[in-house]
Amino acid sequence: MSFQKPKGTQDLLPGVVEKWQRFEATARGLCDRYGYKEIRTPLFEQTELFQRGVGETTDVVSKEMYTFEDKGKRSMTLRPEGTAGVVRAYVENKLYGDPDVTKLYYIGPMFRYEQPQAGRYRQFHQFGIEALGSAEPSIDAEVIAFGYRFYRELGLQGVRVELNSVGNPDSRVAYRGSLQNYLRPMLDTLCKDCQSRFEKNPMRILDCKTDAHRFDDAPSILDSLDEESAAHFAEVKQHLEAMGIPYSINSKLVRGLDYYTHTAFEFKADGIGAIDTIGGGGRFNGLVGQIGGPDQPGIGFAIGMERVLLIMEQQGVADPAALPLDVYVVAMGEQAAKYAVPLLYKLREQGVRAEKDYLSRKMKAQLKSADRLKARYAAILGDDELNRGEITVKHLENGEQASIPIDQLGDYVKPQS
Ligand code: HAM
Repeated sequence: MSFQKPKGTQDLLPGVVEKWQRFEATARGLCDRYGYKEIRTPLFEQTELFQRGVGETTDVVSKEMYTFEDKGKRSMTLRPEGTAGVVRAYVENKLYGDPDVTKLYYIGPMFRYEQPQAGRYRQFHQFGIEALGSAEPSIDAEVIAFGYRFYRELGLQGVRVELNSVGNPDSRVAYRGSLQNYLRPMLDTLCKDCQSRFEKNPMRILDCKTDAHRFDDAPSILDSLDEESAAHFAEVKQHLEAMGIPYSINSKLVRGLDYYTHTAFEFKADGIGAIDTIGGGGRFNGLVGQIGGPDQPGIGFAIGMERVLLIMEQQGVADPAALPLDVYVVAMGEQAAKYAVPLLYKLREQGVRAEKDYLSRKMKAQLKSADRLKARYAAILGDDELNRGEITVKHLENGEQASIPIDQLGDYVKPQS
């Protein structure tokens, strides 16, 4: 019997995982500079959290969730996105008590039952940030600028920012009417899902995977913004301009999740066919209240790690150079092989990247292994030398060789910083 990974998942093997680590290190570094602290929430939550938070008429909730009943007969769901869980934790742990803005970030797997293709997986990973507690447009602009900067720090070229406002609830009521008027004549020809969304949530129709292309001349939500929403949007744009962040307005951008208010945005890049959205986010002023917390505003984004890494590869962004091994200890003789065990322990304790042979191989095979691992030095230890307390170190690139006291090996091979 042989086993295969589940459809839509990936094994991240050595050689590839280093790229993920670089992505994560860049994300953590930038979060540090922007004042975001890490939060780790469970990979599964009560199903109702997503139904209420993300919205029952969204594709994510109505079609894509991994939902199961646990042994206690509770309905649980593998998180399809990070915001709902972060907001749940923010409420449950009363983080809103902080007089400052609460800035949180997360990196981890999300689960959506989607049709897998290049850039679309069932288990995928997001790096996301959420800023809770401020309704000021300056933080909307800062969050967008953070995302833009992040792609640049990774070395990605040509990332575009698409921006829209979905307004406050009053603006959306006004827009709902004009959108329904526009859609009514074509209602019979829309897909079944869209027909059922017409009354429940007509804005979702603009986001339909099959019909979206037909709505090019749909009314713009920007024409329905009330004074407060229009003023908020104008200020976000001003701040972006002041920071020199390029963006284009896309008034059809409604995002696939129901919690958005005011600012909505996506990051796009060419490279993996039809799938060009490498991140997205927006403001969610009603969400904290909706899931039982106080009336606190929030804004954030999530970036799809797989998609970013695919595009980095296509753009030929240089791989992180693997650090070479400092020393490979070649032991000859029984006594030397025994001694190599505590020697390696000590070297690693000193911060040296050290390896040895674990297969009782002859000296030549051990040296080959040192070459394969790109060791800078081989340290050759025979029983006689061991009795003298010495070891031979050979620089594997220039061939230079020296005999040194064993207890100086760590300092000798350690890279000078
Ligand atoms: P989202 O647009 O659903 O937003 O997902 C964010 C990003 O995750 C997408 O732009 C895409 O890059 C990636 N992504 C989504 N689904 C998949 C998939 N099946 N395979 C690979 N990548 C995928 C959210 O999840 C919101 N929680 C973002 C947010 C945070 N809004 C406010 N705060």
